[in-house]
Formats: sequence, structure tokens, C-alpha cells
Amino acid sequence: MQSPFLSLTLLNAHSLKFLTKVNQKNRGRMKNLIAGNWKLKGSQNLADSYLNHLSENKPVNCTLLVCPTFDLLEYISEKWSQDFGFLGAQDCYHDDSAFNEGLASADKVARTGAGYIILGHSDRRHKCQETSGLVRKKVNLAWKHGLLPIVCVGEKSEERKSNLTQEVVKKQIIESIDFDHLDGSFVIAYEPVWAIGSGNIPTMEEIGIVHDEIRTLLITKIGSHQGKNIPILYGGSADSNNAEQILAVNNVNGLLIGGASLDIKGFGTIINKA
Ligand code: PGA
Repeated sequence: MQSPFLSLTLLNAHSLKFLTKVNQKNRGRMKNLIAGNWKLKGSQNLADSYLNHLSENKPVNCTLLVCPTFDLLEYISEKWSQDFGFLGAQDCYHDDSAFNEGLASADKVARTGAGYIILGHSDRRHKCQETSGLVRKKVNLAWKHGLLPIVCVGEKSEERKSNLTQEVVKKQIIESIDFDHLDGSFVIAYEPVWAIGSGNIPTMEEIGIVHDEIRTLLITKIGSHQGKNIPILYGGSADSNNAEQILAVNNVNGLLIGGASLDIKGFGTIINKA
């Protein structure tokens, strides 16, 4: 059995080198990142079904990321092979001092073997009233502990109806990432709040417009070379029926998948198509 510490070292080192390696391999073409976000729904059975499936079907064309609940991270990490892809965590506390009862710090997350961390998910922003300023603190802590943050952004239904989508998304990105003191790389996940878990998704044209805007913003902020290499994921009711279509949209570099990641068979078809 691989020690959690060994897997921690390997995964973190790998995730930090992720972009460079992927780009070398694909001669400039970014490999899709397919991320499963189990939210609070994972179980050891689900972890086992993933491990069994992945040992027979290693992801070839895309990079896989699995984000189970915190309690399952160590369990799955001990059996995880680097050939499967990466493990990630869902959220962390914005302060890593020891005197915060019952909360997972970025440091603790990194010790589980996770290489990535989802931050600023709409559940946190809207159900837990997290501001972009708070997300920024978490992003900085993620970098400090060698984690690659996936920064989620997205508009609410009423903001969409008021044509504020692009404004909201850009503001969230600018305020959630400390562009003046970048201390690592990151991934953006565009997740319209109204699309999450609803079965509704924007049109491909709408997704394309937002992703192009995000790409332009990143290039403006961090320059063409770096800005072109930041993966921009789409999330919100992505599943095996629409994955291929969404992945074909310009500047969509992967998917963040909640509900449809809870069944490895369906999720496996997405991995194969990506
Ligand atoms: P969903 O969730 O795929 O179930 O819509 C996506 C997410 O919340 O990250």
C-alpha cells in the first residue's frame, strides 16, 4: 500500500507540473480535464467502483480528477494509481491556524494526497455566503500548501435574466484570484448557478461567449502565454448526453461534473469521449 505521504508528494508535484506536462505532450493542445465532484454523496462503495473501473479503463485522452468527500480522500488515496489521474478536495477553511474547531485546513487537505481543491463553488458562495475576498484567501492557502485551486464562478438566474452574466463572472474571477501576487497556477470552472443540479444548461453559443470572455480576461491579466494555458471548465448539469457537445465549444477545456459523476458507468463514458 502506498503511504499517504508518498502519494501526497507525488500528487502535489505532479499537479503543479500538470500544465507544462500536458502541453508538452499535446504540443500546445490542452488535454481536457474531467473532474467529478461528489459533493456530500460519496461512499466507500462508490470509491471502490471507481477504483475497479479505473484499473481496467485508465483514462487515455483526458486528465481525470476525482473530488470525493474529505473523509474518503485518504481511503481512496491509498489505493489510487497515478495512471488514473488526480484526487482533489472540496473546499477548505480560509485560515490554517490550529485553533479552528472542526474545519479542514488546506494543509490537512494536502496531507490526504489531494492535488487539487475546488474553491468558491456556488454552494459555498450562496448557501454559506462566501465572498470572493474569502475565496481569494483560500486560493492563497491552496498555493501555500501545493494545491492547485479550481476557482468556481457563475451567475444566478436573475443575473442572467438581467444580462449581467459576463459582468458577474469577470468580477468573481478578478476578486477571487490575487493576480498581483500569483503564487501558483489555477483552473477556472464556469458554473451557472441555475444550471447546477437542474438538468438545464445554457446553449452552446452562450457557453462559448462566457468562456471566450474568461480567456480574454486571463490573457489581459497574466499575459498571452500563461493566459492561454489556464484550463476553463464548464459545470452545471453536464452529463454523458451533452458532454461531447460542450467539450467541442471553443475555450472549453474540461468539465466539472456533480450528479453524473456518482455513477462510474455513465461517468466512464464521459471520460472516454473527452
Ligand atoms: P451538477 O453539479 O453536475 O450536478 O449540476 C455540478 C457542480 O456543482 O459542480
